[in-house]
Amino acid sequence: MLGKQELIDRLTGIRSSRKSYYSELSATVEELKKKNKQLEVINRLAQIHVEKSWEEVSVYLAAQLSQIVAFDRFMLTLADQTGLLFHAAEREGESWSCRFVKRRIGANDAWTPEEFDRLLQEVTPGYYSASVGLQYQTGKIYGYLTLQNRQNKEYSREELELYQRLGEHARISIENILLFKDVSEKINLEAQLIQSAKMAALGEMAAGIAHELNSPLTAILGHVQLLMRAMKEGRHGKMLADIYQCGLRCTKIIQNLLIFSRQEEVQPETIQLSELIDDVLGLVGYQLVVSGITVRKETEQSLPSVRGSRNQIEQVIINLLLNARDAVQGKNDPEITVGTCLTRLEERLFVSVYVRDNGVGIAGEHLSQIFNPFFTTKERMKGTGLGLSVSLGIAESHGGKLLVDSRVGEYSVFSLLLPVPDHEGED
Ligand SMILES: Nc1ncnc2c1ncn2[C@@H]1O[C@H](COP(=O)(O)OP(=O)(O)OP(=O)(O)O)[C@@H](O)[C@H]1O
Ligand SMILES: [Mg+2]
Repeated sequence: MLGKQELIDRLTGIRSSRKSYYSELSATVEELKKKNKQLEVINRLAQIHVEKSWEEVSVYLAAQLSQIVAFDRFMLTLADQTGLLFHAAEREGESWSCRFVKRRIGANDAWTPEEFDRLLQEVTPGYYSASVGLQYQTGKIYGYLTLQNRQNKEYSREELELYQRLGEHARISIENILLFKDVSEKINLEAQLIQSAKMAALGEMAAGIAHELNSPLTAILGHVQLLMRAMKEGRHGKMLADIYQCGLRCTKIIQNLLIFSRQEEVQPETIQLSELIDDVLGLVGYQLVVSGITVRKETEQSLPSVRGSRNQIEQVIINLLLNARDAVQGKNDPEITVGTCLTRLEERLFVSVYVRDNGVGIAGEHLSQIFNPFFTTKERMKGTGLGLSVSLGIAESHGGKLLVDSRVGEYSVFSLLLPVPDHEGED
């Protein structure tokens, strides 16, 4: 028979005198809690959703790891052909936020985790770093998981071993995400290729048909005009006027299709956008003013010039102005502002031409569709729905962008961004 003390010892796993019994028991309970927490975290490390961005992954890992290891900054670093991509998560109040930094390195710089820590010492002085390597089965290192603390406090052996184990589990999730991104990139690329091949075929076809239709249409319009002159009044006169209007609409569609599918190279020229706007306002400004619209000009004279096709850029601004005119129709104080300014976007310098109106605005569900060919909310005979898609095509063929911002019932502003040639800007 086992003695009572021996039985308790066996059940609790604690061998002790009665005196230290309770403190040892609570230490064991603490240890068990810690182990449980570690298991929980390990389990969660393997549950990162594959569609998450690297910033989100870094924040998630930091939040999980902080429950069992102490650190001030967590870094998920990935290496690609061009350099190291650092995703550094730092605590911001209750949550974590992530900063992204890219650093170029030499082609064959692959460091062991220890070498990487030394590199970090130079890059982020004042921090002690402990990294584990992320490596493929082939042994090639493709990234690092790093804990950094500001006190320059080294981690204990036990902590480092735990971190190694955690790193192993996180690595599996990271590899799944890499795989997912790789596959989705390939699928996207394939879809893009199919789409651009389709568009090229469509463009060629459209150009062919447009040319074919142009001559008979010119004949139709000419004859109708002659007939209209002969038969001004009566039912037939009205029918002829209708035929003429339909013919004009077809001409407009054909012209737009030709621009849409234009494949010939345009000879780019140097353009001062403020001057170009003066020319465009000379063409359509009067038409706007006589319809009761206040037209304001906010052009800056000293902006750098851009390179491109004058005709095409004029075409875009006219399209935007005509859309603005349609949008302010029926408004109390209709107003259209055309202006230019310098804009920096994604590290590049652009001259922006904006057209703002205080018209009907664009409903949220339409915003994603307005640049699609043939999307229009205008009456059947009024809009072809090609204006913005043609304009977007022109913007992109100039290396630029066409952006929109709008609030229903208040305003719309379209901005055509054209890149400033490198030698022209500040940089
Ligand atoms: N300034 C604007 N304010 C409100 N809605 C606009 C504005 N500009 C464009 N839109 C919306 O975007 C749609 C598409 O414009 P887009 O210029 O491509 O074609 P459209 O003006 O309808 O026809 P088209 O220009 O070929 O005669 C318009 O029908 C309209 O609903
Ligand atoms: Mg239009």
